[in-house]
Amino acid sequence: AGQPTTATISADKPGPVYDKLIFTQFAEHLGNGIYGGLWVGNDKSIPNTNGFRNDVVSALRKLSVPVIRWPGGCFADEYHWREGIGPKAQRPVKVNTHWGGVTEPNTVGTHEFFELLRQVGAEAYIAGNVGSGTPQEMAEWVEYMTAPAGSLAELRAKNGRKEPWSVPYFGVGNELWGCGGNMRPEFAADETRRYATFIKAPAGTRIMKIAAGANVDDTNWTDAMMRVAGPMLDGVSLHYYVHPAGGWPPRAPAVDFDEHGWADALAGARRMDDLITKHSAVMDKYDPEKRIFLAVDEWGAWYAQDPGTKPGFLRQQNTLRDALIASIHLDTFARHADRVRMSAIAQMVNVLQAMILTDGPKMVLTPTYHVFEMYKPWQDATVLPIDIETPQYTKDEFTMPAVSGSAVRSRDGRVHVGLSNLDPNQSNTVTIKLDGVNAKGVSGRVLTAPAINSHNTFDKPEVVKPAAFSGARLQGDQLVVTLPAKSVVVLELQ
Ligand code: AHR
Repeated sequence: AGQPTTATISADKPGPVYDKLIFTQFAEHLGNGIYGGLWVGNDKSIPNTNGFRNDVVSALRKLSVPVIRWPGGCFADEYHWREGIGPKAQRPVKVNTHWGGVTEPNTVGTHEFFELLRQVGAEAYIAGNVGSGTPQEMAEWVEYMTAPAGSLAELRAKNGRKEPWSVPYFGVGNELWGCGGNMRPEFAADETRRYATFIKAPAGTRIMKIAAGANVDDTNWTDAMMRVAGPMLDGVSLHYYVHPAGGWPPRAPAVDFDEHGWADALAGARRMDDLITKHSAVMDKYDPEKRIFLAVDEWGAWYAQDPGTKPGFLRQQNTLRDALIASIHLDTFARHADRVRMSAIAQMVNVLQAMILTDGPKMVLTPTYHVFEMYKPWQDATVLPIDIETPQYTKDEFTMPAVSGSAVRSRDGRVHVGLSNLDPNQSNTVTIKLDGVNAKGVSGRVLTAPAINSHNTFDKPEVVKPAAFSGARLQGDQLVVTLPAKSVVVLELQ
């Protein structure tokens, strides 16, 4: 039944490593992304460890989050790190001018962020303040965090942390073309050179510097950044959000959509492939060896805020459609793993396409969370080329290949295959030729749900969750998989 698709996995022609940094998470001081979602401080009614809620941290640990990007986003270019250290009662209360105009108590600062990293088991990707800070302020923050000795190291020790922290990744501002300072590309690239000069790692350590990259298809920005600042950089970022219903400002509802909205969003997710191809081509001009990586450090669906939620908090529900948006992106990054070595979905908790939603003491895992959990074997695995011949799925003006997929060999030698059926109406039987795979068995899990907009709520948290999958079988050197309509399937070959 349903549509037929054929594919070949060339395990005998292994590709690049699927860097685990592609599973980086992003936590901004925005809405309940930090306060309420991660940090509950002294609120004894929500079980926590040193202020961070145990339920959320434990769920994040199960994703093996490698890195967390913080404190923004747009917030980063107005954040002054000195306001977030020392006794909490003495920290200034500011206004979060970007996000809802609410007060920012500075309760979560540098020390608290590193405590979160310790609990989650992740590493730091700090976004520095270029837009409204100075090179000196940025340099001193780096020194405060990483220096083994000196007055800033002593101040750090006085504030409770003697040993330096490790800061492997540092962002030189954020969206300098917009909220980070409304700069023109050449100016931003010059500023990036200037600020990057003062980001200094102590002897024996390394800080990878990532430039604030382009918006969507602005390859002119990538060109200027690579040409002017490339030699000083390790990575250049790219931001692209899926905005169904006509782009900016976000107006599509997160839940109350029909098949038109489904197809619109999935076509938007497929666009990431083309964007990476274009930006990579520009990067190739200056860096054919691909020394500098592309960090797609903001991606995901951005809808209208859920009705009744606070303005500027970017709170949105997450449906089966978001699961497919996530799997399409993760497959896309596999095709570009030679250049894309980091990505960060926006954002980790309670904001935009989140892993986790909370409300007071309640917590629920989203369909997107489940995709990230199912794709865990991709972390640091070797990409195996997969060539897919699939019919098109069409709805109104949107047309796209019906099946998305990627394959990897994990470090334990096992082959993992991810396949998503974008068609919400028909199953799809995929016959995959396995070149260079000696498989004796196959097992898998599937994520699907009754409706395209099925989602998890605090009252019904398990409407969309992975289940055992029995629709795959080995037939000689072929793998035959029947994908249910609107599903994400992840298989492991034994
Ligand atoms: O993720 C929300 C916002 O989107 C970020 O703060 C900003 O970098 C981007 O415009």
